[in-house]
Amino acid sequence: MAKQRAPHLVVFTGAGISAESGIQTFRASDGLWADHAIEDVATLDAWRRDPERVLRFYDMRRDQVRRAVPNAAHQALASLEQQGFRVSVITQNIDDLHERAGSRRVLHLHGEILKARSSIDPRLYYPLPRGDIALGDLCDKGSQLRPDVVWFGEAVPHFADACEIAAEADLLLVVGTSLAVMPAASLLEHAPLDAPCVLVDPEANALAPPGVARISQPAGQGVLALVHHWTHEGRLWLPETLLE
Ligand code: APR
Repeated sequence: MAKQRAPHLVVFTGAGISAESGIQTFRASDGLWADHAIEDVATLDAWRRDPERVLRFYDMRRDQVRRAVPNAAHQALASLEQQGFRVSVITQNIDDLHERAGSRRVLHLHGEILKARSSIDPRLYYPLPRGDIALGDLCDKGSQLRPDVVWFGEAVPHFADACEIAAEADLLLVVGTSLAVMPAASLLEHAPLDAPCVLVDPEANALAPPGVARISQPAGQGVLALVHHWTHEGRLWLPETLLE
């Protein structure tokens, strides 16, 4: 008899899944973009105009990430792999909390704050296990190092890979994203038409596109409730009792 294929969960996450770990989201009233103008800290023009200011912004965010620990939602997703599910995480987040929780397949659409990269050759990147990036820190080709993150207006190099992963989902779980940024948010359109899709977010009712189920709860509740059902049943499904 053909070996039963492991059910494939594709998880698409945003800043909201790291909120309960103490990492700021972007568009909340107390979010990062309330205190910092995107054009001053997260664009190529900002980098060319005032690299020191950009480096300080990412030093502050890197410090938040290093002080944070994975929360119950990160851990619940990682635990599914031990239960025999195939789990692919596609995240907009630049923190390493999915990896620290134990998730083995994590694709960062917007880069990774714990890496530096060459300003002239994106293939040259350097892990930052400790410390930050200073002016004068150079790549092997002699150019200033920058955070290995995707700034507004820059291409999203792994988006095509992410679409291929989403196309193989048996179920698409979307957690903690306002779906405000393209092309990332269009990932939902790449899941198979017959794959259920559910959004876990306290604002799910306002955000969920048509056809997407919604659980208006924080990740630490909504994701755990889903993972509990999936683990208990050994299959991916959307229990009506959990949905709005
Ligand atoms: N659990 C789940 N979701 C939460 C929680 C929580 N505890 N707290 C907040 N949220 C939700 C908010 O309701 C919001 O919908 O997380 C979402 C965060 O939205 P944004 O701040 O816009 O973050 P995100 O969607 O990840 O932004 C996408 O924009 O600025 C760029 O590159 C940046 O990757 C980022 C992208």
